[in-house]
Amino acid sequence: MSGKISWDELETSPLTKKHNLSSFNSSSFELNDFLKDDALINQEHLLNRSYVCFFKSRMIGFFTLTTDTITAKAVSKSDGFDNYKYAKYPAIKIARLAVDKRCERRGVGTHLLFAAIGIALSISEHVGCRYITVDSKKKSVNFYEKYNFAIVKTRKDMDFIPMYLNMYPVIKEMRPVESLNDW
Ligand SMILES: CC(C)(COP(=O)(O)OP(=O)(O)OC[C@H]1O[C@@H](n2cnc3c(N)ncnc32)[C@H](O)[C@@H]1OP(=O)(O)O)[C@@H](O)C(=O)NCCC(=O)NCCS
Repeated sequence: MSGKISWDELETSPLTKKHNLSSFNSSSFELNDFLKDDALINQEHLLNRSYVCFFKSRMIGFFTLTTDTITAKAVSKSDGFDNYKYAKYPAIKIARLAVDKRCERRGVGTHLLFAAIGIALSISEHVGCRYITVDSKKKSVNFYEKYNFAIVKTRKDMDFIPMYLNMYPVIKEMRPVESLNDW
C-alpha cells in the first residue's frame, strides 16, 4: 500500500470490548502489547481512554488519552501565562499513539493526532486545560514538531522526549477565548 489515505475513509471511535485488535501491528511492541493487554482494563479503571481507527474494516491505528500536568518551568516563557502562581499547569496527555507499520507515512498518524487534539480542545471548553503533553519516542519527534509541539527544555537528555502543545493560540484562532466568560 502507498499514498495518503483519505480521512473520509478512516473511522475513529472509542475503544470497546467489541473491537477486534488482533491484526494491529505497529513498529512498537510495547504499544501493541499495551493495546491488546492493558488498554481495556485501564479504561475500565478510569485511568485512560483509548480510541481506535479503522480503514476498510481493518484496525490501523489508536491513541490513548489521560490527564496530566506540566511544570510551569518546563514551558517556554512565550507559551506560559504571565505571573502564574502555581508550580504546574493543567494538561491532557497523549499517553499512546501508534499506526500499523503497514500504513505508516500515509497520513493516519496525523489524523489520529488531530482527533486527539480535537478531544482536548472540547475538554478545554468544560475544564481548565491549556496544554497537550506527550512523551515522544526519539524517532517520532519530527512528527510532533511538524504539528507545533515544543520540546520540554529542562529534560532533553532522556530516552523519550517530553513535548507539549500550547492550546491557547489554537483556541484563540478558532474562537475568542474571552467568549468563555460570556456564558
Ligand atoms: C509516529 C507515527 C505515529 C507517525 O504516524 P504516520 O501515520 O506514519 O504519520 P503521518 O503519515 O501522518 O506523517 C505526518 C508527517 O510527520 C512526519 N513524520 C512521520 N513519521 C516520520 C518519521 N519516521 N521520520 C520523520 N518524519 C516523520 C513527516 O513530516 C510526515 O509527513 P510526510 O510523510 O508527508 O513527510 C508512526 O510512525 C508510529 O506509529 N510509530 C511507532 C509508534 C510511535 O513512535 N508512536 C509515537 C510515540 S508516542
